[in-house]
Amino acid sequence: MESGAAGPVAQEVLAAVDKSVCNIPDNVLAKVDAKLHNAGFHPIATIKERIVAALPAETVVVDALSPVVSTAANFDSLGFPADHVSRSKSDTYYINSETVLRTHTSAHQVELMRAGHRQYAVFGDVYRRDEIDASHYPVFHQAEGVQLFDKEQLAATHDLGSEAAIGAWLEADLKGSLLKVVESVFPGELEVRWNEDYFPFTHPSWELEVLYNDAWLETLGCGIIHPDVLTRGLGADAAKRSVGWAYGLGLDRLAMILFNIPDVRLFWSTDERFHNQFTSRELVQFKPYSKYPPSYRDVSFWLPAGDGAYHVNDFYELARTIGGDLIEDVALIDEFTHPKTGLVSHCFRINYRSHDETLTNEFVDSLQHKLRIAVVADLGVELR
Ligand code: PHE
Repeated sequence: MESGAAGPVAQEVLAAVDKSVCNIPDNVLAKVDAKLHNAGFHPIATIKERIVAALPAETVVVDALSPVVSTAANFDSLGFPADHVSRSKSDTYYINSETVLRTHTSAHQVELMRAGHRQYAVFGDVYRRDEIDASHYPVFHQAEGVQLFDKEQLAATHDLGSEAAIGAWLEADLKGSLLKVVESVFPGELEVRWNEDYFPFTHPSWELEVLYNDAWLETLGCGIIHPDVLTRGLGADAAKRSVGWAYGLGLDRLAMILFNIPDVRLFWSTDERFHNQFTSRELVQFKPYSKYPPSYRDVSFWLPAGDGAYHVNDFYELARTIGGDLIEDVALIDEFTHPKTGLVSHCFRINYRSHDETLTNEFVDSLQHKLRIAVVADLGVELR
């Protein structure tokens, strides 16, 4: 791995690398400083902001914690058994035998409880070894909400006479809070269902599915925080007096659905044709563009003398006639008047690009050749 232009998180990774253990490829290391959840009007950032807007005002929003965490934080503190599959090097990116790229934002639960937080939402990039295709990417983003309550206070303010009554109230509060979050993200009427689920750090646990375009989508996992996790975060005494709930929600798939983005890899594109489509917090519908490379050709010519003999639109139209949809755009890049003859020269740049294939140089040359012949024949110009 190169340390050349590495950002702060990449530096942190590189400083801790044990080469005999580390299984992080360069293409993943190159993403650890991207922070798409904090990146302007990126769709992932917009989903985050819509969630933040729906949270109670007291919620502390935490969005800049490093994804470099200990195995203790990511697994042990949450009660993952020693032989749990997610600890394996085939599932998780290890930096050294005790340090990983977090596989979920739950890695911060105990740390944030220890820091005194009782109502927070963490947003962050998380990492799981996976194939890369249109719907899988080894880096994605999660939102994690946690809320703790003092049992005595809860019992008093809500008139709850037993542990069972407190449990039922907590479940209702968790589900109600999550519905608000999900409703803030999905426009319109929502149909949802709750299924029982399992996580080592919550009990009981549920997943929430949302019906969207006739398909049930798993949107999040949640549950009542396990007493052992509270003990690690708060200490035994405070843990006995406390209860709480937690949820974790993936942002990328929501962003794909809501912005109609067909491929997760587009989130990581540096192409301005992607980013220029997202300039507000609106859920605009993504307009696909070609993934094949452009090929430029320039043509310059002297215009025919005399007013009205030629108009730039004549050239644009002629280019369209010859190149059709293979021409992405045409731009007048230079205009020049000859000091002696007074003749005007135009130089156009034609950007050829196909939606279906990479155009060969020979093919683009042949199109450009046809265009050069046609401008002389049809527009009466003189090629330079
Ligand atoms: N961390 C879990 C996951 O990534 C989600 C979760 C968070 C479940 C909090 C329960 C409570 O799948």
